[in-house]
Amino acid sequence: MSASAAWRRLEPKLAAIALRLGQLESEPDRRNSFMPYTPERESPYVDLHGERLLMMSGYSYLGLSGDERVVAAAQSAVDTYGTGAHGVRALAGSTPLHEELEAEVAKFLDRETALVFGSGYAANVGTVAALVGPGDTVFIDKYDHASIVDGCQLSGATVTRFRHNDADHLDRRLSDAAPGGVRLVIVDSVYSMDGDIAPLPELREVCDRHEALLMVDEAHAIGVIGATGRGIEEHFDFKVKVDIKVGTLSKGIPSTGGWVACTPELALFLKYNARPFLFSAALPPAQAGAALESLRILDREPERVTHIQRESARLRKIVTDAGMRTLDSETAVIPLVAGSDELAYDYATACRKAGVVGLPVVSPAVPNTLARLRIAVTARHSAEDIDVAADAFLTAARQCGLIPG
Ligand SMILES: Cc1ncc(COP(=O)(O)O)c(C=O)c1O
Repeated sequence: MSASAAWRRLEPKLAAIALRLGQLESEPDRRNSFMPYTPERESPYVDLHGERLLMMSGYSYLGLSGDERVVAAAQSAVDTYGTGAHGVRALAGSTPLHEELEAEVAKFLDRETALVFGSGYAANVGTVAALVGPGDTVFIDKYDHASIVDGCQLSGATVTRFRHNDADHLDRRLSDAAPGGVRLVIVDSVYSMDGDIAPLPELREVCDRHEALLMVDEAHAIGVIGATGRGIEEHFDFKVKVDIKVGTLSKGIPSTGGWVACTPELALFLKYNARPFLFSAALPPAQAGAALESLRILDREPERVTHIQRESARLRKIVTDAGMRTLDSETAVIPLVAGSDELAYDYATACRKAGVVGLPVVSPAVPNTLARLRIAVTARHSAEDIDVAADAFLTAARQCGLIPG
């Protein structure tokens, strides 16, 4: 078979994505994905092709990206260790900095041990696929992150989904499950597209009754929920504990990398069984240094967390009072529901014309009647920034017919 015939077999897939993007981003003004934003170091503003815009859809919850202490820590790590890790952790890739970072993650989360992966995605995929396999059952919330879903698929375990944040449905799923094998329940503590929080006490009770382990992805919770940003256990006043915590160093913590916080026995098991840990290069020193310093700052400056919680509650109230739908959001993530994918694109464009970036999230990432702008409030946003953003969101919503004019 000639090369062109081989490529022709791929053509329908390439054509499908081109068609879909053509529908959503046909005019330059409607383009909202993969935009080359240049952030300002000391503010939540970005530059886009010479235009200064207020970024309201970033993930740097703690506002520490560009913080001079974090930048200095990254530079110092490069000075000491160079730019690359040059190996997997089991071979040449481990440095004292990686061990220091793991100790800091464990301390911050009140666990004995933590293991740092190359990304949050790798931490989820590697942990899930190591913990369960054929003969085991994993129970996942319908809205769990893609990295959890991918880990499940890789594991070969039986995968059962339960309705979003519905502990009764999980209870029924566990009652119906095969009796043998490991039972692992996995939820996000904060859902990245909805901004709601998992009902931890109810989930814990169901897991205990059915001899199931409870794993929680804290990607959007660390630095965001709990009085000092320690995530879902702190949010519920430390009354219940999860068995395995997983998270990222790429959101509130402005670096890259992921972590698992757990018992020393489980960490040892994962070191030799989590394939993305064993077979992928260690975190680069600059990223480890930045993450370590950011965790220490978060520990010393809980007022950043208070600020996020106060300003996100205020923004949510302003927009819902004006008639916008924000679903069950109760965190820094605030979905501004537009409806159809096309409306979400138009709404994003109208917001940008009003000087504010609110990025659209469309199907299949969310149901196609609930396309939205995914807004995130950070510690970098001053009260005045939030007022500016609220004004733009409401003006644009009126223009798009989402709320009365
Ligand atoms: C809930 C959740 N888990 C895991 C990840 C993956 O984290 P990372 O970007 O560090 O790979 C993300 C990233 O979007 C996420 O939202």
